[in-house]
Amino acid sequence: MKNRIIVRNLEVLPPLALAPMVGLSHSAMRSLVQELGCVGLLFTEMLAARTLPDENAQHSPLLVRSAGERPLFYQLFLTDTDDIESAVRKLHQLNAQGIDLNLGCPAPNLRRLGAGCYLIRDLARLRSLLVRLRRATSLPLSAKIRLGDKLDQGALADLCHLLTGEGVDLLTVHGRLHGEKFCRKPHWEWIGKVKDMVSIPVLANGGIFSVNDARECLRISHADGLMIGRGAAWRPWLFADIGQEIYGMPPERPGLSRKEIYSRFIELLMERFAKERQLGRLKQFTPYFAGTYAFGHHLATAVQTSTTMEQAVQRANDFFAGSEA
Ligand SMILES: Cc1cc2nc3c(=O)[nH]c(=O)nc-3n(C[C@H](O)[C@H](O)[C@H](O)COP(=O)(O)O)c2cc1C
Repeated sequence: MKNRIIVRNLEVLPPLALAPMVGLSHSAMRSLVQELGCVGLLFTEMLAARTLPDENAQHSPLLVRSAGERPLFYQLFLTDTDDIESAVRKLHQLNAQGIDLNLGCPAPNLRRLGAGCYLIRDLARLRSLLVRLRRATSLPLSAKIRLGDKLDQGALADLCHLLTGEGVDLLTVHGRLHGEKFCRKPHWEWIGKVKDMVSIPVLANGGIFSVNDARECLRISHADGLMIGRGAAWRPWLFADIGQEIYGMPPERPGLSRKEIYSRFIELLMERFAKERQLGRLKQFTPYFAGTYAFGHHLATAVQTSTTMEQAVQRANDFFAGSEA
């Protein structure tokens, strides 16, 4: 198993990435998984190319970032070719290590805009966007896709050839169709079919919550690496476990208990975000993190119904006092 990939001129070591997730893949979360070890590549949540240039880099919760968060790819969703150059200029100013194009999100608000997975329904339009994007930057360019509207090898091959032909350097494949819910097991074997269609590195994504899932996904998809989303909020130490057990990385995890990891997350939220932005992010994270506790729904509900950060922290501490470490 190769423990690194090269994306254009960037070495990613190990080939384990934190997925772009709205409300979750922010600065505090990115730092948390980094501190626990073995995450090789970070992504922001999706950002609208149209409004990005007007975001204030110092104050926008979408752009807040600490110096240690790298390599960091900023994910864009694009609606109009005319937005590209100014969005890319902004990402250069922000010292992005790469740019990711969201081609997989089936959210209804993106349907209206013809962005996310709806972009791949019009390959001519997608090509013109990619041409402008590739011309605008020499940074590594990646794309994140789902498997399409139905399992169709020909349609996937057309998409892959378009992406690689227009200069995409890394492909992430979420192994579900556009309409498939998270409760459905991802089609890891179809990620393998995509892998065989391209010569750029492929990250497999979807349904990885344990070292065993990671091993099984890599075996079935023979992908070059993995991207992990919800599993990273559930077990922020998952990258470290996979790094050690699959990629033979030296142990990095500083032996923290779950309570200490949760407290560190709170500390990072307080450090990086204005007071009024902290509680929402804690509420978004907690239901996942609580999932490793037998009575974790008590923690999730206690935080969910809190009206201030202080109350949420107090209630979380009460929960931890009565739970196993
Ligand atoms: C709360 C949430 C927000 C997400 N936001 C994004 C996003 O901004 N961009 C994107 O490409 N995918 C987004 N996704 C999809 C994830 O990146 C990932 O593809 C999906 O969760 C499957 O991976 P997982 O099983 O490891 O979670 C989101 C998923 C979740 C749960």
